[in-house]
Amino acid sequence: MIETHLHEGVFEVVFDNPPVNALSAKLRTGLAVAVADALADEAVTAIVLRGGKSFSAGADITEFDKPLSPPLLQDIIEILESGQKPIVAAIAGNALGGGLELALGCHYRIAAPGTRLGLPEVLLGILPGAGGTQRLPRLIGVEAALDMIVSGAPVSADKALAIGLVDQLASDNASLAADAIAYARTLTGPRRTGDLTVSADPAIFDKFAADNARKIANLRAPKACIESVRAATVLTLKEGLAKETELFLRLLKGDQSIALRHIFAAERTAAKIYDLPKVVSLRPIAKVGMVGAGTMGGGIAMNFLSAGVPVVILDLQQDALDRGVGVVRKNYDASSAKGRLTNEQVENAMGLLTPTLDFTALADCDLIIEAVYESMDIKKEVFSRLDSVAKPGAILASNTSLLSIDEIAAATGRPGDVLGLHFFSPANVMKLLEVVRGAETAADVLATVMNLARRIGKVPVVSRVCYGFIGNRMLDPRQTNAEALLLEGATPTQIDRVHNHFGMAMGPFEMIDLAGVDIGWHRDPSRIEGLKDALCAEGRWGQKTKAGFYDYDDRRKATPSPLVCDIVENLRKKTGTALREISEEEIVVRTLYTMVNEGAKILEEGIAQRASDIDVVWVYGYGWPRYRGGPMFWANQVGLKKIVDGLTRYAARMGRNFTLSPLLVRCAQHDLALDRSVIQEMQDAF
Ligand code: CAA
Repeated sequence: MIETHLHEGVFEVVFDNPPVNALSAKLRTGLAVAVADALADEAVTAIVLRGGKSFSAGADITEFDKPLSPPLLQDIIEILESGQKPIVAAIAGNALGGGLELALGCHYRIAAPGTRLGLPEVLLGILPGAGGTQRLPRLIGVEAALDMIVSGAPVSADKALAIGLVDQLASDNASLAADAIAYARTLTGPRRTGDLTVSADPAIFDKFAADNARKIANLRAPKACIESVRAATVLTLKEGLAKETELFLRLLKGDQSIALRHIFAAERTAAKIYDLPKVVSLRPIAKVGMVGAGTMGGGIAMNFLSAGVPVVILDLQQDALDRGVGVVRKNYDASSAKGRLTNEQVENAMGLLTPTLDFTALADCDLIIEAVYESMDIKKEVFSRLDSVAKPGAILASNTSLLSIDEIAAATGRPGDVLGLHFFSPANVMKLLEVVRGAETAADVLATVMNLARRIGKVPVVSRVCYGFIGNRMLDPRQTNAEALLLEGATPTQIDRVHNHFGMAMGPFEMIDLAGVDIGWHRDPSRIEGLKDALCAEGRWGQKTKAGFYDYDDRRKATPSPLVCDIVENLRKKTGTALREISEEEIVVRTLYTMVNEGAKILEEGIAQRASDIDVVWVYGYGWPRYRGGPMFWANQVGLKKIVDGLTRYAARMGRNFTLSPLLVRCAQHDLALDRSVIQEMQDAF
């Protein structure tokens, strides 16, 4: 874990704790001993601290739930900073969180090109608790420090040099060790960041909070970060550190940080498939085929193009193909106009796209993804054609958001090569990828796409086959109840507001209007079976027709619609629904608790591998507030008994089809957290 080398007076401490060099208790102990030895050794004139492959990703997050064991990171930083010999941090890979704070405790910093330096604690609902909020502003000034600490975003080595966060850049990774030692030899004594002072106009902090008001609304950590940086400008280092610790400990125990840490772990756990063999060789994916050049097809293609993977995109008509390619080009140009991509990157990506009308052009693709109209007959036809043109071993995927992958796979002679890849719209932006595992999907096919998902920057979650998979299946009871509540007396604004206050990116009706009220509509204006049919019959298809559950102006601003009130009123009379006062509590039960109930059924049936996978789906695919940890995590925090009581109270209003999940009821009765392990423990009961 720790290696030390003496290079003619320069003492090099190399620490390595794979995979990310987290500063675990064992590593901290080793570091404290090595540094103390070097400081006491008269033969040593300077010290270099270097991480193995990467400097450090910071504190070991897995230790946060236990009492912290000494030496604390703060203690080591104190030893380093007060040391009488010059100490250099030699930084490569990542210097994040406590890793960067360790480097700030050193007197000088040298970084390899490509290094990322940042304080991402805020993303875990905490603040840099080992002096970061006190030393960073002293070193780089208040404004730059606020940017880094409150956004949590890392800076590059070049930027770090420009803002004074590092003193030198090494020529390359390989020469970092030698460059750091050479640098250490030139130094005559310590230079302590903690000795610097920093002042700022107090108005800066209020302005910063106001400028970022939307981003930090509802979040406690960014506000505490601002308060702690402010302390650095008015308090001594010692007092400022005490303030930082007080804020850190309060945040660490708070529900937001617990939820955010849950999601951090859940995202990584979701990538693990519990029943795959330990060693699976992956199929190479060098070229991708896309069937369908519509909005989804184009968006999906962009993920691969941006990652440097060539894509052949197919449509049946030349004009549809041209339109699809045009949309891809327009999206890339928009990114370039915003400065997110250079012209060269755009041209490189577009250069990898080959449009075609000919199925045989897909013959050498390693993965072919279908994104055509959501109809089983059409999908079967496409897959049967793909079966006849695709090379042996090619992976065949459907982007269906609800249909049976098993039925689609049966249209081919190679069901083991077939699975679902459910991207979310806009597919080039949304991080979630539901990977739908058919009954016969081969282990190496699954392993290959899980790996590929990360290559294109997606967060993959595995779902078994059921109608709507994990996400849309849980959406169903929410939307059904939201519509029923309108007939019973609620308004779209009332329901959406409950969801907005909860922290959802969009409420149920804002979401339908954006997605299109007409999705799944039978297109027969004389057949009105529900509220959505009635709206569609009036041409209220959502934002695209500037009218849906709300009216929209040219800037897509929504206002309540008197016409929708009339439509609801008519349907209420037609269905004989009694009008009554709808409480916020009823909205919460019928549109949020029902999702938890459906999630429990999904677990019970083995559709999701674990409860935390469901949380990842909702946070990354449906705008569930990250700081609430996802629906299943939230349910445990609310209390399952309360959820079951609420659902029982309103069960009669939710129609004959509503049933409580036996798993949810049992967990509530036995005071257990909802999870798959519970199912295993209760195997006999099911
Ligand atoms: N502590 C413990 N484990 C960590 C960790 C940390 N700080 N950072 C990552 N890991 C684990 C991951 O959980 C994952 O574990 P599994 O293999 O079991 O799934 C493994 O290391 C690899 O991580 P990734 O899959 O994320 O690897 P990556 O190469 O895609 O990304 C990374 C690497 C950029 C460092 C990313 O892991 C990351 O952002 N880590 C978190 C960094 C962070 O938030 N640091 C601040 C910690 S809090 C702190 O330091 C408090 C303080 O003020 C003292």
